[in-house]
Amino acid sequence: MSKIRIEGGKLLTGTINISGAKNSAVALIPAAILCDEETTILNVPNISDVDSLEEILRCLKAKINRESNSVKIDSSKIENTIIPEELSKKLRASYYFMGSLLGKFKKVEMYFPGGCSIGERPIDLHLKGFEKLGATITEEGNYIKIEAKELIGSKIYLDIPSVGATINIMLAAVKAKGQTTIKNAAQEPEIVNVATYLNSMGANITGAGTSIIKIKGVSTLRGCLHEVIPDRIEAGTYLIIAALLGKNLTINKIIPNHIESLVSKLKEAGVNMEIGTDYITIKNVGEYRAVKVKTLVYPGFPTDLQQPLIPFLTQCNGTSKITETIWENRFLNIPDTIKMGANIKVVDNRVATIKGKTRLRGMEVSATDLRGGASMLICGLIAEGITTIDNVNHILRGYDNIVEKLKNVGANIELI
Ligand code: EPZ
Repeated sequence: MSKIRIEGGKLLTGTINISGAKNSAVALIPAAILCDEETTILNVPNISDVDSLEEILRCLKAKINRESNSVKIDSSKIENTIIPEELSKKLRASYYFMGSLLGKFKKVEMYFPGGCSIGERPIDLHLKGFEKLGATITEEGNYIKIEAKELIGSKIYLDIPSVGATINIMLAAVKAKGQTTIKNAAQEPEIVNVATYLNSMGANITGAGTSIIKIKGVSTLRGCLHEVIPDRIEAGTYLIIAALLGKNLTINKIIPNHIESLVSKLKEAGVNMEIGTDYITIKNVGEYRAVKVKTLVYPGFPTDLQQPLIPFLTQCNGTSKITETIWENRFLNIPDTIKMGANIKVVDNRVATIKGKTRLRGMEVSATDLRGGASMLICGLIAEGITTIDNVNHILRGYDNIVEKLKNVGANIELI
């Protein structure tokens, strides 16, 4: 398992270009198989999650051609074979093949592991949605078979505005007979990105980005060209780094209003930012005040930026408070952060208080999960001395070229 080695304390200057959104790309690629012709997706990030999805497409005999950041997919002759366990368990987002294969063939067989480090991660809302559309579900251990004689549009109310369930039901409904209404739908920008992709194929989806999405079934989906939106979580991660170490550091190729909740929280802490149409520049690091943060569904403060924000809060004067309302186990990075010198109390597995300003000392730490790993990397960038992070595959599966991007603006960082 490779490691990342960082010598902390370097100010960072220059421009970091943000890549396409992981949480959009991992839905768009499975969605591509709904298309009856060849389709191209641009601005796909270069991350291992995309590699894993490519493997699944090849296993389904789709024709896929990936060069630099564009992916060309022709699913006109794919075979609806069982997706083997070793492929489908590589990433959570393999569950989008449930919606797209069900939507295309009215049947899907695959394996789906439960749980991961940040929480139980059930998919009951996905499966209830499929059943409402007329599917029957057979589960044996991790094996799952979902099939329907007919997929009939239906009214579906989501108990929780789940991102995955909203997208998966949309994928299953695009070719169903009649209209499907999803109420209490998630409103994340990635959902809009998937809906506009399907609509450019000829689907009939309205309301994406609001809590009520209507999908009128269509019979054919034509080839099209589509682009992945900028990754708001990658952008937010680098904006936090800029607030801590930026000296004329620009985070470029972003959609600022997708990270409005983070920008407003950083402003509240005293961060000065120049906000452009598709970039944010931080000229200098300042003295920051403690803040309170509660993670919520979009447009609230994103749970995926809660862990990267922790190192920032260790540098704010006063006692900050984080309340994590989405996942039940998303503080795994805190023990190593305390080892580096932070003054953090985990009140329960949903609330933590962070006393600042504390100096962090470099040392050997671990990436516990994707955003926890990013959090440790930020700790390493601000700590005195050398930090080495192991289990960095967690980080590399979700951040395109992160070592290069940071090296290009002056960080003393390398993959060893
Ligand atoms: C997506 O996960 C993201 N992953 C997660 O990002 C992100 O943290 C999450 O949305 C919330 O924003 C991808 O898009 C690939 P949910 P998802 O369904 O869709 C409960 C990252 O770091 N729930 O919105 O799995 C669930 O337990 C990853 O990039 C059910 O109870 O999240 C959680 O408490 C981590 N039943 C809440 O809903 C279900 O059927 C929100 O989950 C589905 C979800």
